[in-house]
Amino acid sequence: MGKTGIEYFDNFILKDGFPDGSLILVAGEPGAGKTIFSATYLYNGAKKFGEKGVYISLAETKREFYEAMKQLGMDFEELEKKGLFRFIDLVTVSRGAIEKEIQFLMSEISSFQPKRVVIDSISVFAQILGLEKTRVFLHTMLGRFIKAYNATALLIAEKPMGSKTIGHGVEEFVVDGVIILKYKSLGEITRRVMEIPKMRRRSVERAEYEYVITKNGIEFLELPDLVRDKGEYTLEKITTGIEKLDKMLDGGYTRDQMF
Ligand SMILES: Nc1ncnc2c1ncn2[C@@H]1O[C@H](COP(=O)(O)OP(=O)(O)O)[C@@H](O)[C@H]1O
Ligand SMILES: [Mg+2]
Repeated sequence: MGKTGIEYFDNFILKDGFPDGSLILVAGEPGAGKTIFSATYLYNGAKKFGEKGVYISLAETKREFYEAMKQLGMDFEELEKKGLFRFIDLVTVSRGAIEKEIQFLMSEISSFQPKRVVIDSISVFAQILGLEKTRVFLHTMLGRFIKAYNATALLIAEKPMGSKTIGHGVEEFVVDGVIILKYKSLGEITRRVMEIPKMRRRSVERAEYEYVITKNGIEFLELPDLVRDKGEYTLEKITTGIEKLDKMLDGGYTRDQMF
């Protein structure tokens, strides 16, 4: 069960959330909301659905992460005490030590058996380990666990500012889904939008979904579905009250013709 616990996302964007047994790339420029979105996925997973989660961090230390998330209403310390969450700090891991750390984190994952795993970020991971070894790690180690336990993993990809591609070569990794978080500046207004160019076993209706980040975390803006609404309106004919005119209009006028 890969629900995010973000109601709009689970009901209207990816029905029932992420597919079981999937590796999902969450890409975006710095500040786009990748950490907050992924943390929300773990937090709600534990809090609302009782699913264990692991956060593997190469970006923020445990203290930084716990403090930042607490400000957004997510108390990871409490989850950790309840045995629902583990934070694996790889912030200072070096090139020479990473292979040993991978053994350690895989043994942690095998014994803890989380349903949800986040790596923040796979870009830094790949910079240290190299692309080829990262690919092997994703497919033969993490990937196998994820498939065998019907778990899900969100792999955060740091897109360099202004770059057109996802960046750091991580787009080459075969994953089951890709989510892109974007900023769009319209003069003084900044819009945040999510795009889902790929998602195995799910259909995605819209090109983009708009969201905001507030003290309550990530919230999607519930915009009306213009295409479907129009379809419904044009089906419903409203009589003009004048028989001849109704005939000319094929039964009357439609609601969108009223405006
Ligand atoms: N309490 C808050 N209220 C409003 N916006 C916030 C709050 N905390 C963080 N943000 C926004 O979230 C952004 C950081 O999100 P984050 O998930 O850390 O980004 P990323 O991991 O993609 O770099 C910040 O740029 C800030 O705009
Ligand atoms: Mg981040």
